[in-house]
Amino acid sequence: MCGIIGYKGKEAFPVLIESLKRLEYRGYDSYGFATVHSGELHIFKNTGKISESNMLEGLPGNTGIAHTRWATHGNVNKTNAHPHIDCEKRIAVVHNGIIENYQELKNKLLKKGHVFNSETDTEIIPHLIEENIKYGFEEAVKKTVSQLKGRYAIVALERDTGKMVAVRRGSPLIVGVKDKEVFVASDIPAFLNYTNNVMYLDDNEMIVLDGENKFYSLLTGEEVKKRLITIDWDAEQAEKGKYPHFMIKEIMEQKETIMRAINQDDKEIEKIANKINNAFGTFFTGCGTAGKVCFAGEYIFSRIANKHINYVVASEFPNYKHFLTDKTLLIAISQSGETADVLEAIETAKKRGVKVVSLVNVAGSTIDRYSDHSFNIKAGPEKAVASTKATTAQLALVILLAHAVAGKLQEGKMLLMETASKVNDMLNPRYEERIKKLAEKIHKQPNIYIIGRSLNYPIALEAAIKIQEVSYIHAEGFAGGELKHGPIALIEKGVPCIVLAANDETKDDIIANAMEIKSRGGYIIGVSPENNEVFDYWLKVPDVGVASPIVNIIPVQILAYHLAVLRGYDPDYPRNLAKSVTVK
Ligand code: M6R
Repeated sequence: MCGIIGYKGKEAFPVLIESLKRLEYRGYDSYGFATVHSGELHIFKNTGKISESNMLEGLPGNTGIAHTRWATHGNVNKTNAHPHIDCEKRIAVVHNGIIENYQELKNKLLKKGHVFNSETDTEIIPHLIEENIKYGFEEAVKKTVSQLKGRYAIVALERDTGKMVAVRRGSPLIVGVKDKEVFVASDIPAFLNYTNNVMYLDDNEMIVLDGENKFYSLLTGEEVKKRLITIDWDAEQAEKGKYPHFMIKEIMEQKETIMRAINQDDKEIEKIANKINNAFGTFFTGCGTAGKVCFAGEYIFSRIANKHINYVVASEFPNYKHFLTDKTLLIAISQSGETADVLEAIETAKKRGVKVVSLVNVAGSTIDRYSDHSFNIKAGPEKAVASTKATTAQLALVILLAHAVAGKLQEGKMLLMETASKVNDMLNPRYEERIKKLAEKIHKQPNIYIIGRSLNYPIALEAAIKIQEVSYIHAEGFAGGELKHGPIALIEKGVPCIVLAANDETKDDIIANAMEIKSRGGYIIGVSPENNEVFDYWLKVPDVGVASPIVNIIPVQILAYHLAVLRGYDPDYPRNLAKSVTVK
């Protein structure tokens, strides 16, 4: 939700443009820059995507801030785009997150004569800094943030000194350093082209970017020493390369990512398996696609380890607090490691003494650092808003953990290695072409339904998310047995229905459900290791036993991608969405 960046070093504008383009997946309805040069603030804002702009003129100066917006307060227009400034055009601010008490603060500022231009919550920040500037810039920022309620990250730039102060309270901020250049951004890919040496700001910390670049705790006022961490992602991983979109590039990367995900330290896996075995109640939590992986985890643990794990969607987890004790274990799954609802679930759990294990893709992310134990799923940077390679990496790790809980870790590894190799074979150009042909047949349909049973019921739900978010076709997933209780009324001639028919004990029942749909005119797309007479279109997947959720979601990811492209949408930037949802 919004990408922010601050930079000090060489000519700032080209660096800010490059960095902002790499943060665009966080928000893409408008963008803006502010630089300082010769005692003046230079500002440029526009609507639309930075990657589609053809700005010819730059802004002068070696220090600047920039923002790519995912609107929360106020319409998408130039005025609401960041940076926002104070009355004297002395302070510019970019902000990610939400200021919950902005209305009250704005009213006070209006009474004092401050003039506001935008409808945003952000604009109160430069005005509050202006109110306190007599204490000096750093102090003014500190006094300002002490009045703000909510989860946010800001970078404030002062015209007269060219200093920047960045503050983190609930939304991510990472500092990158390279010789005398310093970056502060919402996410690492922003500056990965320039440096992979990073330092993380924790909540309630600020950094003063003035050449000395010191970190301070906002709680104690003391300086905080930070460790420099070298990230093992390279800039190329965060580029599209030969692919037209990140989404298809990341789908194809599943040839390698499943193998990477299971390359974990056996001892650590066994240790967490023990914790699960000894816990008095284990919960899985996550949001959106990661939430569906958690839900699949409930079935996976039941099938493989005969173990009951509770799945609760993260935004609802606080409502389960009464079931938590210091013997409970929480397993949080998040690609970004920054999702606000998941963080709130972790906070709720920690208050009750619950131990937290997480599966994340971003090393050093907030969830990674706030967990008692964290596994990295090693999918590499996932830039497309629609999660694909992270999903299958998460599924692979959940399947591996379930095997470890059942005392069958090596068996689990063998299965997943075989699955990875079969995924590698499956992701060939002919396979993609066959799915593209299907997309050509159905891309004008207003509705698509997906059914699955057992392990593949959550995958039907995930398949629906994939189709909805990039193609904007109304898609819904159901448990195969539920249709006859209502949704079957929606089936009419030609409605595409994807049937996830794994070769397991659910096969006969799901095929019977497919028959029921077909006899009402539905167009049956079978995702299955074997063809069946009920299928109007068959998408073959390898038979990988309990790893079927991994192979069943992949053809739907490819289908969703091609549906989006054929309908004229950019699958990397679905409307209204952002990659990392750092607001509640
Ligand atoms: O970064 P996270 O895995 O915590 O993100 C959770 C969801 O926001 C995310 O999975 C979302 O549903 C994706 N757009 C789905 O493709």
